[in-house]
Amino acid sequence: MTALQAQTVPVPMLDVDLEFLDIVTEWDVSTPHHRWKPAIVVPATFRPADLSRVIVVANQKGGVGKTITALELAMAYVARGLRVRLIDADPQKAALTHWLRETCYPADGSTRYTLRHVYFGKATLAQATYPTIYQGLYFVPSDPDLDDVEMAGPDKVLSPETLLRDSLRAEAADWDVTVIDSGPRLGRITISALVAAHDAVIAIQDGGLEVAGTGSVVTTIGSLRERLNPDLKVRAIFFTDFKKEKLPRKIGHAMHKAFPDALIVPARESTQAGWASLARKPLRVHTPGEKPTLDYDRAADLLIAPRQKAS
Ligand SMILES: Nc1ncnc2c1ncn2[C@@H]1O[C@H](COP(=O)(O)OP(=O)(O)OP(=O)(O)O)[C@@H](O)[C@H]1O
Ligand SMILES: [Mg+2]
Repeated sequence: MTALQAQTVPVPMLDVDLEFLDIVTEWDVSTPHHRWKPAIVVPATFRPADLSRVIVVANQKGGVGKTITALELAMAYVARGLRVRLIDADPQKAALTHWLRETCYPADGSTRYTLRHVYFGKATLAQATYPTIYQGLYFVPSDPDLDDVEMAGPDKVLSPETLLRDSLRAEAADWDVTVIDSGPRLGRITISALVAAHDAVIAIQDGGLEVAGTGSVVTTIGSLRERLNPDLKVRAIFFTDFKKEKLPRKIGHAMHKAFPDALIVPARESTQAGWASLARKPLRVHTPGEKPTLDYDRAADLLIAPRQKAS
């Protein structure tokens, strides 16, 4: 047992949110805004998925809450006793690997492999998977050189688009849930994450420019489904840093029209979100019970059926 495993801590479930968001089948855009109450959209067609699920968090727009969504969803499943693998597929220096540097994998230099080694055929995905201090959470780190994958020739990276999918399939039985955090660049790495996944969840944030970003994510997923992964399902749209304002309501409604079978989840705002990343801890560990964590918990339960979880 490594020193890290010896310090492993269980991640507890949180109390139920008493002022919890309602569940509706569609956001009502006809109610005057001052009377409208934010709610989670669960379409009538939505069904929870089985275990052994691969979920990618995506949006080619930067800074919209992909990383926090990937981490908090992964932690919600860990708290439910599942065996979870979290993969950092973003080469950015300030991404998940940096966030989890001190708590989630050996910071003493004993990390030998990252996702980059997997693409370059230098390690298997299993070899690049590290236990973390959180019981049930395993992590595949990234590194800034992961970007090399984007330009590498076929002599260096064989089948870049399908490599991650094939690696995950080879070890599918070992994991209840795999969550992949993707970067804002729609290059090979992000495409391979979308090819590897069963489910895509899209993170969006409010703000004027977001309307344009939202259009591109709809187009990207559409063409990806046509060409590379016809089975990919958009299962949820997370509205991160959600505030009850008119524009998010409009965008949420547009996303529901674009993805009528997906959950629309307001992940409510929390001033602690930024502090948690500064402290390099998941939000649910840094400040247990913050509203977005409870929203991620709720979404986690909707995405994967409780009756199918490990007993
Ligand atoms: N519920 C929330 N309440 C308040 N702030 C939030 C919330 N969710 C996310 N944020 C903030 O939004 C910002 C962007 O979050 P994050 O880094 O997860 O985005 P990202 O899409 O992964 O960015 P990138 O495209 O650079 O990878 C961060 O400053 C984060 O603290
Ligand atoms: Mg990110």
